[in-house]
Amino acid sequence: MSALTCEYRPGLEGIPATQSAISFVNGQEGILEYRGVSIEELAAKSHFLEVAYLLIWGELPTQEELAAFEHEIRFHRRVKYRIRDMMKCFPESGHPMDALQASAAALGLFYSKRALDDPAYIRAATVRLLAKIPTMVAAFQHIRKGNDPIQPRDDLDYSSNFLYMLSEQEADALAASIFDTGLILHAEHTINASTFSAMVTASTLTDPYAVVASAVGTLAGPLHGGASEDVLAMLETIGSVDRVTAFVDEAIATKAKIPGFGHRVYKVKDPRAVILQGLAEKLFRKFGSDEYYDVAVALESRVVDCLGHKGIYPNVDFYSGLVYRKLNIPSDLFTPVFAIARVAGWLAHWKEQLNHNRIFRPTQVYVGDHGRPYIPMEERG
Ligand code: ACO
Repeated sequence: MSALTCEYRPGLEGIPATQSAISFVNGQEGILEYRGVSIEELAAKSHFLEVAYLLIWGELPTQEELAAFEHEIRFHRRVKYRIRDMMKCFPESGHPMDALQASAAALGLFYSKRALDDPAYIRAATVRLLAKIPTMVAAFQHIRKGNDPIQPRDDLDYSSNFLYMLSEQEADALAASIFDTGLILHAEHTINASTFSAMVTASTLTDPYAVVASAVGTLAGPLHGGASEDVLAMLETIGSVDRVTAFVDEAIATKAKIPGFGHRVYKVKDPRAVILQGLAEKLFRKFGSDEYYDVAVALESRVVDCLGHKGIYPNVDFYSGLVYRKLNIPSDLFTPVFAIARVAGWLAHWKEQLNHNRIFRPTQVYVGDHGRPYIPMEERG
């Protein structure tokens, strides 16, 4: 115990912050499970709302449970016109993650009753957040172009509806199914930075909209979910396969982090990156290849050759952008799409945290001075 209280580990590396039964990662063997079920099996056989249910309530739903859950989500997809009006005041040049963070927090103004010990409240808040976050992401995309948002369609499933709200066109069935699998892959990942942020916020017993808003803000950073946008920008900068070697050599020489590579836990290729690469190839077979796919494959090969010995391999953000690009999703919506998925994991951890809550209050190692005199302004200098 004393070793734990004394030892400072930057980034809390390797320090357990909770006990959780939601997901499991083995970073040496590239294993990821949600509630004990492998990510490969879920990606092949399930769909996002079923996975969200599994994560949040711990069991795969029966047919009736799933139907009721999907019905509730459909019912709550619309957002209040005041939220849409608020979004109209956001600058068009603002990042969609900032718009999402503000909109998620604003939900708390409209659903302010807080009853954290009431399972009906937990369910209602969970449904609202899962239902409304995609609507808010799509709404900002239209509002920032000066257009009215597209209303959700009750006859469409979760992913088809999101793609419809984004483009006002019904999505191709394969495209919608691949998008949905992408949501499964991004839904949960143990105590990553945004989930930890959600848990810290949850531990104060604040409302779930504040929990999700703080997690959205954390996900936005380039070391976390924001990397997917940076990956595409990097592929565009590299431009062609023959420039990959020079790019990687330069990054290594200048100690620059290459977006989409490396992970605190995985020391092999992220199993989600393996599946996402397969999904990208499936999309390319149907809709034509992407000019940057060969660059990405060559980049992976070069980075692994040079940095594989340090455990640097592609992470979940490396191939996701190529999938989303083929689905005509703008690159600054890649991270908001990640948030649409990860809200399931954040809510699962919120619910779990409430079951054994103790406020997070770590300690620190003070390295400052003591006993310094107060210096009057005129003597400072
Ligand atoms: N490119 C080049 N070198 C890297 C990279 C990278 N992407 N990532 C780590 N390294 C190297 C570091 O330079 C360091 O080398 P050193 O030991 O010789 O100094 C070593 O690997 C360890 O790196 P750390 O930064 O200490 O690893 P940490 O666990 O703190 O960070 C992180 C993990 C933030 C993901 C890091 O790998 C990174 O910045 N990657 C790029 C951004 C990215 O893709 N983020 C998305 C992660 S997945 C997600 O959040 C959804």
